[in-house]
Amino acid sequence: MAQARQPSLLQWFAESAQALVIVRVKKMSNVIVLGAQWGDEGKGKVVDLLAERFDIVARYQGGHNAGHTVFIGEKKFVLKLIPSGILRPGVEAVIGNGVVVDLAALIEEMAALEAHGIEVRRHLRISNRAHVIFPFHRLIEKMSEARENRIPIGTTSRGIGPCYEDKIGRRGIRIADLFDSESFRILYDTLAEDKKTLAETFQLHDTIDYTRICQQYLEYADRIRPLVCDTAALLNGAMARGKRILFEGAQGTMLDIDHGTYPFVTSSSAAAGGASTGTGVPPTAIHGVIGVSKAYITRVGSGPFPSESNDGGGELLRREGNEFGAVTGRPRRCGWFDVPLLRYTAMVNGFDTLVITKLDVLDLLEQIPVCARYRLRGADVTEMPATYRALEEIEPVFETLPGWRTSTRNFGRYDELPEPARAYLRFLEERTGVEIGGVSTGPERNETIIKAGSKLERLIA
Ligand code: IMP
Repeated sequence: MAQARQPSLLQWFAESAQALVIVRVKKMSNVIVLGAQWGDEGKGKVVDLLAERFDIVARYQGGHNAGHTVFIGEKKFVLKLIPSGILRPGVEAVIGNGVVVDLAALIEEMAALEAHGIEVRRHLRISNRAHVIFPFHRLIEKMSEARENRIPIGTTSRGIGPCYEDKIGRRGIRIADLFDSESFRILYDTLAEDKKTLAETFQLHDTIDYTRICQQYLEYADRIRPLVCDTAALLNGAMARGKRILFEGAQGTMLDIDHGTYPFVTSSSAAAGGASTGTGVPPTAIHGVIGVSKAYITRVGSGPFPSESNDGGGELLRREGNEFGAVTGRPRRCGWFDVPLLRYTAMVNGFDTLVITKLDVLDLLEQIPVCARYRLRGADVTEMPATYRALEEIEPVFETLPGWRTSTRNFGRYDELPEPARAYLRFLEERTGVEIGGVSTGPERNETIIKAGSKLERLIA
């Protein structure tokens, strides 16, 4: 009988080291951070805060329609296209293939960050498969928003929808196409012809200099060329080396093209599933989903909003929460926390934990209404209605919780928050069925509490 061979000390050491590496890699988690409502939940701040624990922050959808506001000391940064991870030294920022890129807006945003001393060129990478927004996409959007018998969505007018239309229509132009000027010109001329025909048909008289745009985009391409690569390969390679990725969603789940309040949505997959298609990272490599929700709720643009408050309450939220769009400056519509909506977005995203932002905006209130359930035509609603017409008919059923009438700012620990504030959060946690792992009580980086012992703490450890 063959004798079992004793491993040499060197072999034993090598195997143990390998086991340690495997344990370490397994422990490292890649997580998605995304909005649980209609966008503007404060994801920018949450991503900025968590980014220091990750190696890479990757954006997976949307374009410069998003506005992430981050305050660092006296400085205010509004990021539209570039992931907020760029503000953390040493963190790489990736614009994934699912994003649509307006090169003029990108170059402008890069310059603004560089003016603040941020080394954008060193840390930003852009997918060669991301689609390009051209100025004529904005023209098409104008047409579709103004057209008779069309439902105006109240878009950000950035050309986002028409660019995604070209992508899905398989006639779009991707960043990689810009680097082959011969074939780019052919693709561009064909696309431009389509747009000219549309403009003529719908009698749009905006003058667009198609030849100049073509030249200008080739120049832009030269400027960003060193930053462009196959970001799916970059991300997968980084993971193989044990690096951690934080996936950043723009907009919110209720603006998702499939799961949102269609047609009052944006044109991309803002929900968690988009993180995989929008970056080329397999779903099996993503280990957690963090939902970000305001302590109340807001929406910009048109569309159903069951818990909207059109009285003094909504006015107070807008004033105290400074609820004006970061990109368009439009006043945001405001309303109360909506439990059925959150249960729905938790279902489609699989939230492990929630971060509740802007709790301090409720500090002045004596009573806080919460939409606890929906009724429709006299019956309880158990599933989110699919049509906007049904959603517009929803009768929200409110329950009222006591306010705390004291400042929640500058608390370092969750259990130090005033008891009525904790009771409010417990109520949301119980009714939505999702843990609240973090609470933000002010715009500054240090005004966020991560609850000790929470799943959130474990996910980002
Ligand atoms: P689009 O994304 O510009 O096509 O606009 C479609 C809808 O999404 C409109 O109601 C916009 O107001 C809304 N939207 C787009 N981006 C954001 C965002 O970052 N925050 C909030 N709403 C957004």
